[in-house]
Amino acid sequence: MDTLRDLWHGYAVHETGTRNNPADALSAIEAASDQKTLDEARVAFLGKKGRLTAASAAMKDLPNEEKPAYGQALNVARSAVTTAIDGKLAQLQEQADQKSVEGIDLTLPPRELLEGGLHPLTLIKDRAIQILRRMGFALADGPEIETEYHCFDALNTPDDHPARNEKDTFYFDSGKLLRTHTSSVQIRTMEKATPPVRIIAPGSAYRRDEIDATHLSVFNQLEGLFVAEDVKLGDLKGTLEYFLRALFGDKTEVRFRPHFFPFTEPSFEIDVKLHVKGQAPKWIEVAGCGMVDPAVFTSLTASRGDDLFDPERVTGFAFGMGLDRLAMIQWGIKDIRQLIDNDTRFLKQFS
Ligand code: DAH
Repeated sequence: MDTLRDLWHGYAVHETGTRNNPADALSAIEAASDQKTLDEARVAFLGKKGRLTAASAAMKDLPNEEKPAYGQALNVARSAVTTAIDGKLAQLQEQADQKSVEGIDLTLPPRELLEGGLHPLTLIKDRAIQILRRMGFALADGPEIETEYHCFDALNTPDDHPARNEKDTFYFDSGKLLRTHTSSVQIRTMEKATPPVRIIAPGSAYRRDEIDATHLSVFNQLEGLFVAEDVKLGDLKGTLEYFLRALFGDKTEVRFRPHFFPFTEPSFEIDVKLHVKGQAPKWIEVAGCGMVDPAVFTSLTASRGDDLFDPERVTGFAFGMGLDRLAMIQWGIKDIRQLIDNDTRFLKQFS
């Protein structure tokens, strides 16, 4: 410092007076209490109109023999000032950092990290897929915005069938609709495949149902289709019984009740017996199924233009189950709306 001051006195004073003593600069920097004052000090000494800049400009008026020493003194002064500014800046920053963590109580317990979990619908879907894949079913899918053809016509559904009603189904102006069941994937798959076909298709379906404890307008199904030579009703029964027992337990009672679906003949609804503590056991419907109606194969054969799905050649079974229903049975959920409420108190139970 002394050397610096001496140098400075020796030369810089020459033109600009004692105000230019670099000690001024250093104490101004030292005194800066925040970044703003520090920056002001920097501008005052090093800026375009700063004192050091002015002192440099003064050099040109010095006698030549004095210039080297003067220049050297300026350099020393400049680097002393720069170093001081850098040092001060670091110091101010550290102070600011320290201030920002002041008052943080390191002894406080950490906030609980919420752990995510899979939604019950995902759990039941994954489980169903796992069981059926083991039996040789491959995953398939199709669009949720469907044509009437894929959703109804190709599935042998007559024009006056109630499901086609605008009251029950969401139609678009284009004439397309939100699929009312995943059975349309049967057609989508068979349009392209070569038998044997053994697929499952989980996915959403849409109906204009009044929403209540057992109905939502968007729900989830899992469709299945097996088409090959010589598929029999016994194959259907065995497959679905095996599936439901794998899902709900070996002892699960399963019942096939004759029913009607346009695209299967014969058709059945499947019930499983539900045992709830303190209540009489009751049968709950979980799926529809049946042997693929030959009319479906006939119309498909016409649209494909080959005979791979000729009803004389192949037979098949199909099924469609409600995944929401399966989840409700699995966990005793009483109100289907809990599946879409996103109430973490409910969902937590599954993670
Ligand atoms: N698609 C029917 C429904 O949504 C369920 C169904 C019944 C699917 C019989 C099938 C079947 O594949 O063969 O109610």
